[in-house]
Amino acid sequence: MPLNFYIETVGCQMNVLDSELAAASLMEAGYQPVSAKRYADVILFNTCSVRQHAEDKVYSELGRLKHWKDQKPDAIIAVMGCMAQKDKETIFRRAPHVDIVLGPGQLRQLPEIVKSVEKKREKRLEISLDRIDGKQSDVRESFQQFNPQRNLRVGSNPYQAMVRIMFGCDKFCSYCIVPSVRGPEQSRPPREIEAEIRQLADQGRLEVTLIGQTVNSYRYSEGGKTWRLQDLFAMIQEIDGIRRIRFVTNYPTGMTDELLQAVRDIPKVTPFLHIPVQSGSNSVLRRMKRRYTAEEYRDLLDRIYATIPDAAVTSDFIVGFCGETDEEFQQTVDLVKYGRFKNSFIFKYSVRPGTKAAELFQDDVPDSVKRKRNNELLAVQNAISMELNREFIGKTVEILVEGISKTAAKSCDLLQIDPPPSQLSVQLTGHTPCDRIVVFDAASEQHRQLIGRILPATITHAAPFTLFGKLIE
Ligand code: 5AD
Ligand code: SF4
Repeated sequence: MPLNFYIETVGCQMNVLDSELAAASLMEAGYQPVSAKRYADVILFNTCSVRQHAEDKVYSELGRLKHWKDQKPDAIIAVMGCMAQKDKETIFRRAPHVDIVLGPGQLRQLPEIVKSVEKKREKRLEISLDRIDGKQSDVRESFQQFNPQRNLRVGSNPYQAMVRIMFGCDKFCSYCIVPSVRGPEQSRPPREIEAEIRQLADQGRLEVTLIGQTVNSYRYSEGGKTWRLQDLFAMIQEIDGIRRIRFVTNYPTGMTDELLQAVRDIPKVTPFLHIPVQSGSNSVLRRMKRRYTAEEYRDLLDRIYATIPDAAVTSDFIVGFCGETDEEFQQTVDLVKYGRFKNSFIFKYSVRPGTKAAELFQDDVPDSVKRKRNNELLAVQNAISMELNREFIGKTVEILVEGISKTAAKSCDLLQIDPPPSQLSVQLTGHTPCDRIVVFDAASEQHRQLIGRILPATITHAAPFTLFGKLIE
């Protein structure tokens, strides 16, 4: 009997992709995916360490599984991802019923390790070297690349795919744990990226999202040529079948004019730019060890809107960073107003042991103040998002139709079956090149033909995070 597995994923898109690839490699080895933990023989947690809260949730979930494992002693529990790399054997101490701890640079070994635990019933800990634990080249090698065959059956949507173009991060922002748990920055060879995208195009994917911690630092030298992100765009432009190219995440100083012009000039590249700024205050940016000033970021915004007038820019912010005063926070509010971001992700600062900020500064902004600033900034941002979305009313946009809208799917339980004949229309969802979600009605008998196509629609209504439209016949 093949074993069933279930992967629970938290964290960023890097983790979402890792889980997809881990699932594909387990299926290749004969394991079967199941839709809920209770049906699984192997439960895998793909974890995140960016904030304390994400770790606490995994530890409490692991605690709850103790009883389950007592009842099912042959079951296997694995902790993968950033928390595995950061906490190492501490995970076995805090949750002795865990069998496998596997860092993000060791996922290639997953099927073999699950198999060996199944047979030998011995715990396994496999992690990469800490960044100070060896020669740079040894550390780099210890973060193994993991690019198994893609499987159309896994992943949230058969028309889109994420493609990793680089691993790790070398920026060392003072608050951030990523450079220590994801290892040194390493760009993937362009030929490998091309081969993977050709394969995805053959599977019918229309949109690829190039992912990495700072994709605009992409750099790969071979045969006397150095490839940058814009060179990858030009290469993917030539791949038949792929209609849209997206890319996340960008570091502000890497947004060169050449890159912006490439976004403008290469037709398949979407005008969607995620460029986290984190704070609008120069003193805070300095403490965060970000390598630009608020003025430089404003200049960047000016350059973006001058080059790509329909650009949709999004950002991340951390509120309540060590020593953040009301004035410093106010500068962030001002920047949000100036930026006209499509949306922003706002986080309360969370101390990460082992980072420079944890060593140098006090986490002295009370949680109540962090919460208040978070809500205030979100309110300012939401008003802007609403305003920008309202500007779409009456306009025509191209939407990649993904499927039945989640709320509609849930209420009708329609994910796998056609809508009942009594229902005349069904609500579909898709997104625009600037990454706005559009919801629209389609006749129930024809909705299946629309899914997986790029179609024009007129926008009729707007909400802060959703546009509502009508397909153009
Ligand atoms: N506390 C809060 N937010 C953080 N981020 C990274 N590290 C921390 C931290 N210690 C946020 C940043 C980053 C996003 C992915 O997570 O805004 O851009
Ligand atoms: Fe973390 Fe900064 Fe690297 Fe982003 S650029 S992953 S915030 S260290």
